[in-house]
Amino acid sequence: MCGIVGYRGREGAREILIDALRRLEYRGYDSAGIAIWNKGTVRLARRQGKVSDLAEAIEADGFDGPMGLAHTRWATHGVPSERNAHPHTAADITVVHNGIIENYLELKETLKGQGHTFTSDTDTEVIPHLIASLLSKAGSFEGAVRSALRMLKGSYAVGVIREGEDILIAAKKESPLLVGLGEDGEHIIASDAPAIINRTNRFIFLEDGDIAVIRKGDLKITNLDGDEVTREVRSVQWSGAMAEKGGYRHFMLKEIFEQPRAISDTLIGRIEEEEGEVFFEELDLPDIAKVRKIWMVACGTSYHACLIGKHIFEANLRIPVETDIASEFRYRDPILDRNDLVILVSQSGETADTIAAMKEVKKRGLHTLAICNVLGSTLSRECDGVIYTHAGPEIGVASTKAFTTQVSVFFMLMIYLGKRLNVLDSDDARRLIGELRKIPHKIQTILDASSSIEDTARENMHYRHFLYLGRGINFPTVLEGALKLKEISYIHAEAYAAGEMKHGPIALIDENMPIVFVSPRDQTYKKTCSNMEEVLARNGKVLLFTDDARHDMAKRIDALFVVPESIYELQPILSVVPLQLMAYHMANLLGTDVDQPRNLAKSVTVE
Ligand code: F6R
Repeated sequence: MCGIVGYRGREGAREILIDALRRLEYRGYDSAGIAIWNKGTVRLARRQGKVSDLAEAIEADGFDGPMGLAHTRWATHGVPSERNAHPHTAADITVVHNGIIENYLELKETLKGQGHTFTSDTDTEVIPHLIASLLSKAGSFEGAVRSALRMLKGSYAVGVIREGEDILIAAKKESPLLVGLGEDGEHIIASDAPAIINRTNRFIFLEDGDIAVIRKGDLKITNLDGDEVTREVRSVQWSGAMAEKGGYRHFMLKEIFEQPRAISDTLIGRIEEEEGEVFFEELDLPDIAKVRKIWMVACGTSYHACLIGKHIFEANLRIPVETDIASEFRYRDPILDRNDLVILVSQSGETADTIAAMKEVKKRGLHTLAICNVLGSTLSRECDGVIYTHAGPEIGVASTKAFTTQVSVFFMLMIYLGKRLNVLDSDDARRLIGELRKIPHKIQTILDASSSIEDTARENMHYRHFLYLGRGINFPTVLEGALKLKEISYIHAEAYAAGEMKHGPIALIDENMPIVFVSPRDQTYKKTCSNMEEVLARNGKVLLFTDDARHDMAKRIDALFVVPESIYELQPILSVVPLQLMAYHMANLLGTDVDQPRNLAKSVTVE
């Protein structure tokens, strides 16, 4: 979704802002813009298309200054175009915005009645007009911004500057925004930490209703009533290098290959194999013995991790688990008991639907636990407890290492709860931890032997439809594999529980339909073999991912990839890796924009 960055410091803002925009590209966008302030004058440029087009456009101009704002836009109101790109201006006010102003039509009508003229189709444009209209009554720039924000309904993260005033104002409600504290009193606002991690590792994560007023070398944060508030300065254990491609062609490929490291980091300090113990320092849980049901709620890939979490929990804890898509959960009035535990899962911690689900749960007085990758994100701050996945920054839009680290956390959490509920003894825990500890090495062996996957991708990339089939705990694995393929290669891929094939999808099967099977040697093995027989009988192509090198079907299928063996609960972490790679290679060979696929945003901060 839209990315915001703003700068007030000693150096020229232009290069710093363009560099930060490049780092925000991964969030997904269709246009970009920049405004530079120098000695009271503001110069602006906007372009539809890439940040590089914007950078090129302002290169010749040479205008620079110590303050500025920049933005990448992901269209919500109004088509992608130069006139809808941010910053938006009115009189001497310049604004960048992320979020949705729900009452913009109403405000626009009133402002038009006062003689204001609008030049875009966006909801954002009402903000500078509103501020400009309130200036004389409020008596100051800061006062006018505060009054305007009070009149907005919806969500916003905004950066505002004004000609003639050496002040940058940033504010947020339900959209993420942080202030980075750099060297020599420089302040940088940004939608997320990776955008500015190369300049600072000290951040203030603004909270809803906060207004940060930045003057040269000075920062003051107030609430909407103007009362000063204090916010903690936090650092993230991420470095600038972690947000670089590090020699890989795409972030997605780098992140797939990072999975052994990401999972090891997620486990470090949390498992004690000899004692059979799992530790979560940051965990704050209710009385576990009273928990009768656990909910797992998320969107997209994180939701697929929940589906696996359900299998892991139910198989070992024998507590019923209900999984739900956050955008469904929030509107369906779920039947919640006060003693239920609700786990919300999100890589970014900023997904609007997941946050709304969390708020709904909290309103009803239930305990919330976040599994989250981004430190200081809204979800991690507002849930009662948080377990971080230490995957490091995930920049590729298609989620990979976030998924496998989320499943790893579910597995650790199952052991943690199992010990406390006395359904697992130390021997069980030791055995399970031992299996988990082997996972990073097993993924490494998959990655080391992965060159054949590119060949499989090349042989199959011309097909326009794929069916993915798996059973039990590997039904979510194939959902995730199919999601990866469609989002980055734009090939249609559908996933089914393999047993459902004969209830409908079998009608699609012919020689033009490759079927991807995930079929390890578990209790559903023989059943999935029968499904493969049914596919072969109809001339379908079978691409098989299994842990069994001597698979019963090995000689009769079109492609075979073997992953190492593990226990049932951990098999998906292994099986998903070749599926991620196959999707990556198909997309790369087809020449799509792998890291920023069309229409997608990394962090879906609007509904
Ligand atoms: C798919 C993907 C999305 C996200 C979803 C939730 O590759 O990345 O489906 O998983 O938008 O995002 P988070 O986990 O940040 O809440």
